[in-house]
Amino acid sequence: MKIAIGCDHAAYEMKEAVKEKLLREGYEVTDVGCDSTESVDYPKYGHAVGKLVASGEVEKGIAICGTGIGISIAANKVPGVRAGVVHSVETAHWTKNHNDANVLCFGARVVDLDTAFAMVDEWLSTEFAGGKHLRRINEIEDLDF
Ligand code: RB5
Repeated sequence: MKIAIGCDHAAYEMKEAVKEKLLREGYEVTDVGCDSTESVDYPKYGHAVGKLVASGEVEKGIAICGTGIGISIAANKVPGVRAGVVHSVETAHWTKNHNDANVLCFGARVVDLDTAFAMVDEWLSTEFAGGKHLRRINEIEDLDF
């Protein structure tokens, strides 16, 4: 499976660790940056992850900033992206099972690395429930702006 990953400076070290974990497990990882702990602005990294997912170049994306919030807002600007911010294994489960989130977001200032790894594992191994949940995400797609 191909996965895109991106972050800002607040999450650079966590992004590197998550990337290494995914590579060890055999995933193909496209890293859109950032590439150091030097301060950067998160929107372009969330957008870059979202574009790769929406275009089909990768199946899923992971976007990490200090809280996961800013970078998720940026990723969700891309049509077709459903980026969910999670903070626990339980929220990682439900954001796949009910929301079919194709981009997982979390905050390096909010969760520790063990929790981040466990959330990624849970999200990658959980199936979308479909049914009424598919109807609901289709309703989101159809919302007028
Ligand atoms: C950067 O200081 C911080 O604002 C960013 O990482 C993120 O938390 C934004 O939502």
